[in-house]
Amino acid sequence: MRRFAGFPAGPAANMLLLCCAAAATVVLCGRLAGGNERPIVGILAQECHFDKFHRFGSSYIAASYVKFLESAGARVVPIRVLFPGGGVDLKTSEYSRVAKIFYHKALEANDKGDYFPVWGTCLGHEELTYLTSGKVLLVNTKTNGFALPLNFTSAAKNSRLFKNFPHDVLHALATEPLTSNFHMWSLSLENFTKNEELRNFYNVLTTNTNDQVEFISTMEAYKYPIYGVQWHPEKNPFEWKSSPGIPHSPSAVRASYYIADFFINEARKSLHHFPSEAEETKELIYNYTPVYTGTFSSFQQIYFFD
Ligand SMILES: *[C@@H]1O[C@H](CO)[C@@H](O)[C@H](O)[C@H]1NC(C)=O
Ligand SMILES: *[C@@H]1O[C@H](CO)[C@@H](O)[C@H](O)[C@H]1NC(C)=O
Repeated sequence: MRRFAGFPAGPAANMLLLCCAAAATVVLCGRLAGGNERPIVGILAQECHFDKFHRFGSSYIAASYVKFLESAGARVVPIRVLFPGGGVDLKTSEYSRVAKIFYHKALEANDKGDYFPVWGTCLGHEELTYLTSGKVLLVNTKTNGFALPLNFTSAAKNSRLFKNFPHDVLHALATEPLTSNFHMWSLSLENFTKNEELRNFYNVLTTNTNDQVEFISTMEAYKYPIYGVQWHPEKNPFEWKSSPGIPHSPSAVRASYYIADFFINEARKSLHHFPSEAEETKELIYNYTPVYTGTFSSFQQIYFFD
């Protein structure tokens, strides 16, 4: 846990990423007058809840999250969770405990004018809805293993996330099934709208409908650089199992890149940095070697941590 002692004053990452069945994100950044061109993003590792992963370590990050961030010009620092627990539970897991610490630090930092973006993908997105509302309001949607087009709300075109996207990318996202869904649970628009904390905190940018449940697929906080996607933008270019749930068309890969580009530009606004280059070097994910897991898991490569 020493890794984030003193956060966000001392260290280092420019932002946090929270992933799915996987990781949460903290993004950590560098510094530069008028911006930071050496952004570092912290990715929250997840406890190994599959038996087949145990021999490799006690927590892991799918390498696709790392490559996704690297593709847009960032480096990654793993945020290791040290106490492996049972399955990853939104309330009680180590993943959840650490996500909560970062979430509150991020709110505090941003309230002081200290930019600190947070991104949640899939489980990370669900975790954000829990952290904001204090409640698990999810409903089982059986949305595991297929791709969907996004239904954009009227708020999307003026949103920070989508407003600078190329028109053809938005059009493709709206009309082609490009976004990979690998989740059993979703936050319905109904439960979102009934909950005051959520309603006041997040702007809903896209929804999807499955089995008559309209659920939130993309959201951004009104007042904070906090973003959640129920789908997996990191999979299109970097994961090859579970097809056809993961489209690899030119549009799908382009859409993924623009999400990464958006998020890393957010990270560039954060001036957090490691106290020294030596400390930075020690924490970067380059200190670890990913394992080829494509023959026995749904991820091509995984970073494992003791
Ligand atoms: C709303 O959340 C509750 C859990 O608090 C859940 O049992 C219920 O199915 C959800 N309803 C919808 C429509 O999402
Ligand atoms: C988009 O919204 C419409 C209207 O609610 C719904 O019928 C359709 O299934 C949605 N499409 C997707 C891909 O979720």
